[in-house]
Amino acid sequence: MSESIELERRHFPIIRLRRLRKSKVIRDLTAEAKVTPSSLIMPIFVKDGLDGREPIDGMPGQERLSIRELLKEVSELLDLGIKAILLFGIPLRKDELGSSAYDRNGIVQRAVREVKKNFGEEVVVITDVCLCQYTSHGHCGIVIEKDMKKIIDNDSTIEVLAKIALSHAEAGADIVAPSDMMDGRVWAIRRSLDSAGYTDTAIMSYSVKYASSLYGPFRSAAYSKPAFGDRRSYQMDPRNLREALREVELDISEGTDIVMVKPASWYLDVISLIRNYFDIPIAAYSVSGEYTMIKLMAEKGLIDEKQAVWEQLHSIRRAGADTVITYHAKEYARWLRDGQLP
Ligand code: PBG
Ligand code: ZN
Repeated sequence: MSESIELERRHFPIIRLRRLRKSKVIRDLTAEAKVTPSSLIMPIFVKDGLDGREPIDGMPGQERLSIRELLKEVSELLDLGIKAILLFGIPLRKDELGSSAYDRNGIVQRAVREVKKNFGEEVVVITDVCLCQYTSHGHCGIVIEKDMKKIIDNDSTIEVLAKIALSHAEAGADIVAPSDMMDGRVWAIRRSLDSAGYTDTAIMSYSVKYASSLYGPFRSAAYSKPAFGDRRSYQMDPRNLREALREVELDISEGTDIVMVKPASWYLDVISLIRNYFDIPIAAYSVSGEYTMIKLMAEKGLIDEKQAVWEQLHSIRRAGADTVITYHAKEYARWLRDGQLP
């Protein structure tokens, strides 16, 4: 060995990244992204007129719940350290205008009142604000005819969304989450909440919601598949990244408190870009298709479910999301408690 290399060896340490990988304790100590149950949100379907629970075919392990079952579920989630739920209502009746969405005694409004009566501040109740489960045509807005074509009318829709959000706030929702993708809805909702005195009710807008194939299982779970056309005239084009910044900028200017990116796993670049541009909290929604993909692979023995979920959730946090909405929230918390995660 030449003299100069020998000299180098003495003066320069050999960098070994493996030193910090040698035991779980060290890996845990230095991990960059962490996923605690308190950073997760569990989506739940409450169904009007249902007695008990009903399994959801396309989402193994998920169920539609009655209000009574919802209360049991919340209590179990709290025991596991999951403190936030996102409620989706399934009404008894649909009509052209989705009027049961803002009924004071609608399924979501009753569910929120019950959860708040039983658990108060302990749980954060977030409500989905949209029309698609409530309209007979299954679109997220009011349908009108223009030039012989059916279109989703932006400006009449945001007025209805403001009414829905207000009815949720009156019932006691902590956060309302508009998922419709109409322009100006955050502003319309903020104005309606503030003028009724609900200045403390927060808004988590689905700011960046792509027209994704991954919503398939959700639509059969919530009976919200559009009867004609698709949602591409209001949801974002999966090919676009920069557009996401404009969506977020607008929602922030209209008064949103949290922005959401949806889906999560195939859109980590979007989360990361928004994280670098804005200071606002980011929620990422790991949607039904992301959930079911893992479930089906696990059922076939092709993937280790616990490891897959652990990896997926940490990827989303690593990209820059502060909170993750996931159907795996409850299971993840249980696996974590039982020491079954990597
Ligand atoms: C509709 C809505 C959808 C989801 C949440 N709200 C579906 C859609 O836009 O068609 C999808 C959630 C999921 O797939 O888990 N406003
Ligand atoms: Zn919708």
